[in-house]
Amino acid sequence: MPAPHLQISPSILASDFANLERELDRIADADWAHVDVMDNHFVPNLTLGLPVVEALVKVSPVPIDTHLMIADPDRWAPGYAEAGASSVTFHIEAASNPVAIARAIRAEGARAAFALKPDTPFEPYEELLAEVDMVLVMTVEPGFGGQSFMADQMPKVRAVRDAVRRRGGEVWVQVDGGVAADTIGECAEAGADVFVAGSAVYGAEDISGRIAELRDLAARHACG
Ligand code: DX5
Ligand code: ZN
Repeated sequence: MPAPHLQISPSILASDFANLERELDRIADADWAHVDVMDNHFVPNLTLGLPVVEALVKVSPVPIDTHLMIADPDRWAPGYAEAGASSVTFHIEAASNPVAIARAIRAEGARAAFALKPDTPFEPYEELLAEVDMVLVMTVEPGFGGQSFMADQMPKVRAVRDAVRRRGGEVWVQVDGGVAADTIGECAEAGADVFVAGSAVYGAEDISGRIAELRDLAARHACG
């Protein structure tokens, strides 16, 4: 039986930005819609911000999973929860007071998460597991879709999963970047349970079929 907790979060970064409502409708079979917020400071790319997220929340058939690749999440992250995002992920590298950010996000009723860039180790942040609902392990350098999957991040996924198990919490482990039919299995094996996929989903002829395929591949490799 497929593990019920495995979730697919297609990234609309790979979709048609001129038709976002329609693009969200195309992923109605997914668990989440992953929305990449980039500010051209924390990463060298610019996408969309708070007003657009607020508009997407109103029309999306699935909950919105925001990934904030922005400077100063202390100031901005709680606003995304207030705008109706169901999950708000901020980068630990950009945060001054991660505990306060996570608490502010949760106080707005959203799930809180922190993200780790490929060069950022998990161990210094293990204690933060008590304050969050998810950890995002980046499997590419944040900033752009369509990059190659970094298999060398799998030990970090394992380390987060082990820490979650040890502590007995309910924290989800998300992977983002280059996740596709040929890479999702090793992510699931390492202990990931939420899978972001941009080009792999929106590049498919049959989007529902691709989401089902990714879900199935993840379930087959899941560590249980
Ligand atoms: C990259 C973004 C990802 C991106 C993934 O900085 O965080 O969410 O959309 O795109 P793919 O799946 O194409 O690598
Ligand atoms: Zn992302």
